[in-house]
Amino acid sequence: MQNEKAIGVFDSGVGGLTVLYALQNALPLEKFIYLGDTARVPYGTRSPDTIVRYSKRVAGHLYKRDIKALVVACNTATSYALDSLQKAFEPIGIPVFGVIKPSATTALEHSKNNNILVLGTEGTIRGQKYSQTILSLEPSATVHGLACPLFVPLIEEGWHRHTVTETVALEYFGTVKNLTSFDTAILGCTHYPLLKPVLSQLFPTIHFVDSAATTAAMVTKELETKGLMTSRKTTANRGETEFLVTDNLQRFRKVGYYFVGSSPSPLQMVDLSDSDEQIVAGLL
Ligand code: DGL
Repeated sequence: MQNEKAIGVFDSGVGGLTVLYALQNALPLEKFIYLGDTARVPYGTRSPDTIVRYSKRVAGHLYKRDIKALVVACNTATSYALDSLQKAFEPIGIPVFGVIKPSATTALEHSKNNNILVLGTEGTIRGQKYSQTILSLEPSATVHGLACPLFVPLIEEGWHRHTVTETVALEYFGTVKNLTSFDTAILGCTHYPLLKPVLSQLFPTIHFVDSAATTAAMVTKELETKGLMTSRKTTANRGETEFLVTDNLQRFRKVGYYFVGSSPSPLQMVDLSDSDEQIVAGLL
C-alpha cells in the first residue's frame, strides 16, 4: 500500500511545475500531489525563519494527505528548510528530497575546471547552500553565487524570450569577475530552466545545469533503491496529479501554462494553518 501513495511536491508557487514536469516524465506511473504556496510567494526575498515556517506548513499539509515521499522543488526552501524536513519525516519512512545536491553533483560532473556559477534568488544565494554542497563534494572548486531577482517576475510575465530579459541577463552576468573562467552555471531557481535557451545563446561557452531534470533523475534512483516505486505496471492504471494552491487559481492556471504548456488540472484551493506547521514540529 505504501508504494501506491502519492509523492508530494511543493514550491512557493508556480515555478515548481518545472520540477513536477521532469518528475512526471521520469516516473510516469507515479501519483503526485503538487502544492504551490501562492498566498505567500515569493519565498526568495523572505528571512530564513519565515522560509522555514512557511515550508513546514506546506510539508505538514502534504503529510496529512498521506504521501510516501516529499520533493522540495523550491531552491529557496531547499536552502533553508530541507534539513529540518528530513529530520522530521525520514525517521517515519518518508524520504525528503531537495533540488540542490543533484544540481551540484551534475555541475561538477560537467565542469572541466570546477569553476561554477550559481544563479538563484536573493535567499538562495545568501543561504550559500549551493556553495557549501559543491565544496563538500569538491573542495578545490570555485563557486560564485549570482542573485538574479528580476528573473522570476519576468518569467511569470511570459517574457522568458524577450529582449528585456536578455538585457537584464547581460547586466547580471556583467557583474561577475572573470566570467569567462566559468564553464558551468546552475539554474538554481525553479523558474530559470525557462531561460536556458536565451542564456545558452548569450553565453555559449557556459553549460547551464537544469535543477529540475537532475532532481527528477535523483528521486527516481532513490525511490528505486528504497523500494518505494509504485507497482502500477501500465499506463491504463497510471497515477495522476492533483494540484493545490493557497491563493489565486486563475493566475496559477495562466502562469502554469507558460511553464508546462498546459493548464494544471484538477486544481483546488487549500488553506494552510498553524496546526499544519505543528505537525512537523511534533515530529521533530
Ligand atoms: N521557487 C523559488 C525558488 O526556486 C522562486 C520563487 C520565489 O522566490 O518564491 O527559489
